[in-house]
Amino acid sequence: TSRTPLSSASAGGPGGGHFLHKGLPPGPRGLPFLGNLLDLGQDHLPSHLTRLARRYGPVYTLTCGSSTLVVLNSSDVIKEALVRKWSDFAGRPISYTGSLVSGGGRSISLGDYSEEWRVQRRLVHQTLQRYSHSSLQALVRRQALALREVLIGYNGRAVDLAEDFTVAASNVITTLTFEKEYGKESEELQQLHSCLNNIVSLWGSPWISALDSFPLLRKLPNRPFSRLLKEVARRDDIIGRHIKEYKLRDNQSEDSITSSLLKGIEQSIGSEDGVRLTDTHLHMATVDLLIGGTETTAAWLSWTLAFLLHRPQVQTQVYEEMCGVLEGRYPQYSDRPRLPVLGAVISEVLRLRPVAPLAVPHRALRDSSIAGYFIPKDTVIIPNLFGAHHDPSVWSEPNSFRPERFLEGGGGRARDLLAFGGGARLCLGETVARTELFLFTAYLLRDFLFLPGGEGAGLPDLEGEASVVLKVKSYKVIAVPRPLETDLAVGPPNQ
Ligand code: HEM
Repeated sequence: TSRTPLSSASAGGPGGGHFLHKGLPPGPRGLPFLGNLLDLGQDHLPSHLTRLARRYGPVYTLTCGSSTLVVLNSSDVIKEALVRKWSDFAGRPISYTGSLVSGGGRSISLGDYSEEWRVQRRLVHQTLQRYSHSSLQALVRRQALALREVLIGYNGRAVDLAEDFTVAASNVITTLTFEKEYGKESEELQQLHSCLNNIVSLWGSPWISALDSFPLLRKLPNRPFSRLLKEVARRDDIIGRHIKEYKLRDNQSEDSITSSLLKGIEQSIGSEDGVRLTDTHLHMATVDLLIGGTETTAAWLSWTLAFLLHRPQVQTQVYEEMCGVLEGRYPQYSDRPRLPVLGAVISEVLRLRPVAPLAVPHRALRDSSIAGYFIPKDTVIIPNLFGAHHDPSVWSEPNSFRPERFLEGGGGRARDLLAFGGGARLCLGETVARTELFLFTAYLLRDFLFLPGGEGAGLPDLEGEASVVLKVKSYKVIAVPRPLETDLAVGPPNQ
């Protein structure tokens, strides 16, 4: 049921319903027909949107064809929309190309808010939580030790570790889903990654998003779009084959996401809520985890080393903290409170370079309000997490890498960190990601000293390249093994 703008604002907008006469949020004037397409086509979109916020305030409007977009740029307005008014803004834009890449909207990340979506998301969430309590640490630890062997094998050569981080992160997800691990040279892994990455970058390209805003263009030949359709077919073929093989296995683990979803599908047939999950839900949930869980974690690890190369004293601090607390053993996730410097580094990298800088667009499910502005049903909401994390009214020296701000207080508030979004669409893999960020970083910094390895030992460029994922530009690093006091001591059993 639709609420009136006035009643929805009274439900929680700052200042209440009286302020709704503010109307739509302001914004830059667009070109006839194209609207603000030029703003949206900027190279480093999160930075550009953040600059616009300095001019138009934390909530502003852009248009693109027939769509109205509202960009949110401060943690207060993002939390108002995503957390306090989650039920107004939990939708996803429904689009022609979105439906083609998401199995007709049956993916968790792109599926619109519905009872079917809730059942699918709940099932995957519960399975991930169960897995996190039982086997996740051991799985990440195994990948961290495999990464250690790869780094030792480089023998002090200057190398770009981006691909090794992708393999480590990807192996966590493929083990979760299919109980399969791959080496860097595996053709199957390369196929899977190239097709998932191509889908993400093609789908984000202006040639393809234009098809959503300007339907007439669908009648013209469009090579990027034909490639996108081919990549989607290739993806569906690879994932479909894996699920088929998995179903035929007689040693399926109770823990795996695939087992649990298969069971969920069976139970949903004949369930009282009338929601019937299908193989497409399983298929698309697998795609969600592979896309959501690989490039994000890998990009974050590359950012962390890049920042530590710029501030080597912080790297030493983390190492000395671990030496003091762990007495030679490897850390466990439960050691977090005893390793505050490491925790502060993790938070600061999440702040400065949220790897999903614009989250995933939301859609207003009904008329509502944000910061007193009227937001009509179907408005697309862009949470600019990057902008919120660079807001000078919350973070002192917002562009500086200062992990100490999380230790000394006063330089920003941990509760304003929104790297995983919030509310009904909170990152589904947050627990998995946090375990990975902590353990991978701790293992790497315990075992190696990282030195700049670029031409003339230059430092990495910290601006990055933003598409759906915010990545650091390629750089080289030298991993020097640390002399270990107690080689490979592990402490108490994991979990
Ligand atoms: C969604 C961040 C890792 C799976 C999201 C969103 C953000 C995010 C900002 C969008 C929230 C919104 O729409 O408001 C991150 C970061 C990660 C990370 C910073 C690591 C550093 C992961 C991992 C997985 C994952 C490891 C899988 C195991 C997902 C899924 C969604 C999502 C499935 C869609 C949720 C939905 O639409 O309901 N993530 N993510 N992410 N993430 Fe992550």
